Amino acid sequence: MMSAGKVLVLHGPNLNLLGTRQPEIYGYETLEDINNGLYEKAAVNGWDIECRQSNHEGELIDAIHAARQDGTVAIIINPAAYTHTSVAILDALNTFEGKVIEVHLSNVHKRESFRHHSYVSLRADGVIAGLGSQGYHAALDALIKTAE
Ligand code: DQA
Repeated sequence: MMSAGKVLVLHGPNLNLLGTRQPEIYGYETLEDINNGLYEKAAVNGWDIECRQSNHEGELIDAIHAARQDGTVAIIINPAAYTHTSVAILDALNTFEGKVIEVHLSNVHKRESFRHHSYVSLRADGVIAGLGSQGYHAALDALIKTAE
């Protein structure tokens, strides 16, 4: 099957600890569980997908820069705490011409007020919050459907 497109999934800081990190908020699935589900969905639909996690702002920015040049058509990003602090990640996403979907496992609007503002939302084409790991699947489904 020909690839329908390439998607980069970027997970920000502390998301490597999923499954054991405040599971009452973020769920019991590990990051590997989530990524495996996304790899499977992409494969079934003929899409290429790359899932990356970093605890470092600059590494997330470098991954966004690489996506500008390797045929990536969309970025699904959970910037984690950098959502609320990082003008640099917003600036990097503003240099990317494809679709950007922002995902949060928890409903950030139901939580502390510092989580209510997102720099990344100024660029995102879509935002999903509060659906747990299903949010990543909803994002990928939307990209696949939109491209059909
Ligand atoms: C998060 C929400 C952020 O406020 C938090 O800093 C995270 C995860 C989420 O997926 O719900 O690390 O992005």
